[in-house]
Formats: sequence, structure tokens, C-alpha cells
Amino acid sequence: MEAKNSLFMLLLLVIICNGNAQLYLSGGPKSNYTFPKDFLFGVSTAAAQIEGAWNEDGKSESIWDHLVHNNPNFVKDHSNADVAADSYHLYKRDVEMIRELGVDIYRFSVSWPRVLPTGFANEVNPLGIQYYRNLIDELVKYNITPMVTIYHWDLPQKLQDIGGWTNAHIVDYYTDYANVLFKNFADKVKYWITFNEPMQTCLEGYGGTYRAPALNRHGIAEYLCTHNLLKAHANVYHLFDKQYRPLYGGKIGMSLDSNWAEPKTNSTKDIEAARLYLTTHLGWYAHPVYSTEGNYPPELIKLVGQKSQKQNYSRSRLPEFTPSEVDFIRGTADFFGLNHYTTYLLSMADKEVGAIPSHANDVGIIRVQDPNWPSKSSSDWLKVVPFGFRRLLQYITKTYNNIPIIVTENGYADFSGVDDKARVSYYGHYLNALLHAIHVDKSNVHGYFAWSLMDNFEWDDGYVSRFGLYLVDFKSPNKTRTAKHSAKLYSSVVATRGLPADYDPADFTAFSSAPILVSTMLPLLALYRLL
Ligand SMILES: *[C@@H]1O[C@H](CO)[C@@H](O)[C@H](O)[C@H]1NC(C)=O
Ligand SMILES: *[C@@H]1O[C@H](CO)[C@@H](O)[C@H](O)[C@H]1NC(C)=O
Ligand SMILES: *[C@@H]1O[C@H](CO)[C@@H](O)[C@H](O)[C@H]1NC(C)=O
Ligand SMILES: *[C@@H]1O[C@H](CO)[C@@H](O)[C@H](O)[C@H]1NC(C)=O
Repeated sequence: MEAKNSLFMLLLLVIICNGNAQLYLSGGPKSNYTFPKDFLFGVSTAAAQIEGAWNEDGKSESIWDHLVHNNPNFVKDHSNADVAADSYHLYKRDVEMIRELGVDIYRFSVSWPRVLPTGFANEVNPLGIQYYRNLIDELVKYNITPMVTIYHWDLPQKLQDIGGWTNAHIVDYYTDYANVLFKNFADKVKYWITFNEPMQTCLEGYGGTYRAPALNRHGIAEYLCTHNLLKAHANVYHLFDKQYRPLYGGKIGMSLDSNWAEPKTNSTKDIEAARLYLTTHLGWYAHPVYSTEGNYPPELIKLVGQKSQKQNYSRSRLPEFTPSEVDFIRGTADFFGLNHYTTYLLSMADKEVGAIPSHANDVGIIRVQDPNWPSKSSSDWLKVVPFGFRRLLQYITKTYNNIPIIVTENGYADFSGVDDKARVSYYGHYLNALLHAIHVDKSNVHGYFAWSLMDNFEWDDGYVSRFGLYLVDFKSPNKTRTAKHSAKLYSSVVATRGLPADYDPADFTAFSSAPILVSTMLPLLALYRLL
């Protein structure tokens, strides 16, 4: 009997310690450090995902309105963002939530077609300007710093009709638009982000079908889009730097999205693949702006050049910057905005991958995730790998000359509910990794924004996937917002500048699809009876 009991206890111990097997995923042991006093804590949103009022007060159609109106099957639940969280009318409640969280700063985006309905600066919509003026005033009234994303994916459809980001003239149109924002808001807005996740705009929107305008002209359009977008970014940086910074001060940068890339095995080839992934994805946008030498990463120039030649194009499908353009773009950011969610495993492809021609085919690497990595997210790509966050921050700090990093997005998606244990656990793990990044690795991180303040229109996932700290009841007439448990966790981190007392870096059980004890105890009890 005694032997039977100790065998049982041993088995039980194995199961309980199972959580510890995941310790390698965490960013390190629980950090005793705290976030620096001047560290910025914030929350992020985007106009197209929360505002609604899609055709109200003079706003014209954006490429997202256009895509989902004309192709409802694009969105998982066939929904659209016509009303969304109705923040166009409920912005005061939004600011109240931001105050409840106690954060220092709010990152929101301006809708280009709301401010300039024709796409051009010939006609500035006074009601559009008034809306953002009201929001900014409401924030400032409560001592919350506004951070404005100038472009978060919602191009006026009228500009898409003439080529959108593949039209070289968009550099001027975008600069005119940014100038209108600076003129109206730079007195009160001290943080500007030119572009949110340009790789999503260009690679997925023009090269693929995953984002608006879902053009799918891979191999060509993603490179044209990126080329114009980087020039537009630099133009707007210089405009701000010359004309507005001297008057009002303030900082400007862009927000790049990046996964961490881990080699799939320890082979030299896989290590090379992981490095190449970062160079040709994050580096595609970061190298021209943040590196010492500027321009596209030399490896990307070489890879696209060689493939283009083999494919009998008269010139590389990757456009060239002139030396003066390289200089004009280099160094055009005061900080490195980073949006990060997850990690991938990389290996070299031994045959052609992706459509021909395409960026994926040009680069020639294979990206997978470890099926054992925890996640039960509504976004199937969102595996919980906190150490990847820590390594990425170190990589950026080292690769881009210790540039100040602001994490402008990080968060977790589920299928809804106020008792969001998985999101609470995700934030615990990623903030622990961040503390190690700052204090142990000396990564130069100055701020962190949770994505997102509230549930919203999650692009092709519609309202199926929820990223909010606040639950939004989209069925209720006034889009009732309720704090989730993660909102309480985040506000306590912001208030104490440290991790909650009960945070356990080895505990990933919130991401098990069934509670571990239910799924494993039953066979175990059967075994106990047999012994
Ligand atoms: C944190 O503090 C606790 C209690 O003082 C200590 O046991 C633990 O080793 C410390 N952890 C680290 C990572 O320093
Ligand atoms: C790679 O090597 C390191 C150290 O030798 C080891 O800890 C790690 O588990 C290995 N990774 C893989 C994927 O084999
Ligand atoms: C490129 O042109 C060469 C010579 O005409 C031809 O042999 C080859 O098949 C062409 N390659 C492609 C990808 O069309
Ligand atoms: C409107 O929202 C409030 C909370 O903000 C809620 O108490 C109230 O019941 C809502 N009214 C309607 C008609 O849904």
C-alpha cells in the first residue's frame, strides 16, 4: 500500500512539475526589478478598428471599408467596422478607461479619409479635425500624453483607385496629410508615429491578400509600396524636424512589426535562416532608417537582384535608392517603435518556396512554430514565447546602435470574456521578459503599450478575436465597455512598476486547452485503482 501511494505521489509530482518544463519559454526567473520611474506605460488603438461612424460627418471610404463592404467573406464573421466600438461618439468613455488604467500615454491613429475625404489636402474636413481635437483635449485635460499614429492602414479608397502606395506621388499626398495633422495638433501631441507595421501594408496588402487592398501582386507591388512608403516616412520626418519641432518640440518614429526568429535546429543553416529572416523582414524597413549605412539590407538587394535576373526581368524587382535618397532616409527617427506578439522557428528552404516571384520566394526560408508552444489564442499564430521578446529587444538594441525602443504594441487575443486568465498570464510573462531585457540585458527600452485598450474590429477576424483590456459588448446599443481581469493586472503593474506578487514564470497552465488536472487526473486515478 505504501509503495502504491508513493508511486502515485511520484506520478502526481511529475504532472504538477509539468508546468516547470515550460520554464525555458519564459523570459527568466521572476524579476525583482521594477520599471524605471520615467518609463512610459500606455495603451494602443487604431481608428479603423474602433471609431465606426464610417461615413459620418464627411468621412469618405477607406480601403478597409471598401474591402469588407464589397467582399464580406473576407471577414471571418462577415462583419464590418461601420460602427465597431463607436469611439467616434464614445471617446470620453475611452479616456475614462485610460484614466482607470492609470497609464501615462494613449496611442491612437487618425483616419486619413476622415480628415481629408478626397485623399488630398485641397479639402480639410473641419468635423474630422474637431473630433481629434476633442479627443486630444480630453486626454490632455487628464494629464494623459497623446501619441498619434499618422497611418494605421486606412488609406482613402480614392487614393487606392490611383495606385495607393504603389503610386510614387503618394509621397507628396502623404506629406500633405501629415502636414495637416502637424498644423492642427503638434501643439499638444508630443509623440508621432509615421507608419504602423508597414510590412503588413506592403507585404500582405499589396504582395498578398491578407490585408487591404488585398492586391496580391507579389514580387513587384510589395517592393514598390515599401519604396514609396520609406520615402514618405523620411519626407514627413524632415518636415516635422524642420518646421514643427522647433516650435513645439516632440518626437517622431515609426512602428515596425517583428516576430522573433529562432533557428529550428542548431544546424549552421538554420541559424543562418533565422538571421536572414530578421534581416529581410524587420531589416527591410529598419535598415534604411536605423542602420549606420542606410539603404535596404545588402542581402535583400543581392537576393532580389539575383532572382530577378534569373527570371529575365530587365532590372531588379527591388527598386534602388539613389545615394542622396539613402542619406535622406537614414536616421529619420527619434525612437524605434516595435510591435511584437510571437516567435517562429526558421530553416532554409531546399527548393523554391512561395509564389514566383514573391518576397517569400526571393528570401527562400521556411517559418514554422513549435506545436508544443503554449497558446489557445483565437489567433492561431499567437504562441506564447516570452523569451523571444527578450531576445528581439536585445537584437534591436545591438543591431541598431542602441536606439531608444518603445514597444508600441504587445498583447494576446482570445474569444472574449471578462475572466481572461490567458491574457493575464501573457502580460505577466511578457512584462517579466521586459524587465529582464531592461535590467539584465541592458536593452534600451523606454516604453510599453498594451494592445489593446478595448475589443475592436480585428481586421479579417472581425469580432471573433478579442485583444482588449476592456470587453466591448458589440450587441449593446451603447457598446458597453467592461474592465477585464487583465485591465486590473495592467493597472497594478503600472501603479507598482513591478510584477504582481502571484506571478509565476513557470506557470503556463492558462494556455492549456483543458485544465491540466482534469485531462491527466482521470487516467491517473484509473491507474491508481489498478496498482
Ligand atoms: C527575488 O527575490 C527573492 C526574495 O528576496 C529571491 O528569493 C529571488 O532569488 C530573487 N530573484 C532574483 C531573480 O533575483
Ligand atoms: C541548441 O544548443 C543549445 C546549447 O547547446 C541547446 O540548449 C538547445 O536546446 C539546442 N537547440 C536545439 C533546437 O537543438
Ligand atoms: C530566361 O531566358 C532564357 C533565355 O531566353 C530562357 O532559357 C529561360 O527559360 C528564361 N527564364 C525564365 C524564368 O523564363
Ligand atoms: C449604457 O452604458 C451603461 C454603462 O456605460 C450601462 O449601464 C447602460 O445600461 C447602457 N444603456 C443601454 C441602453 O444599454
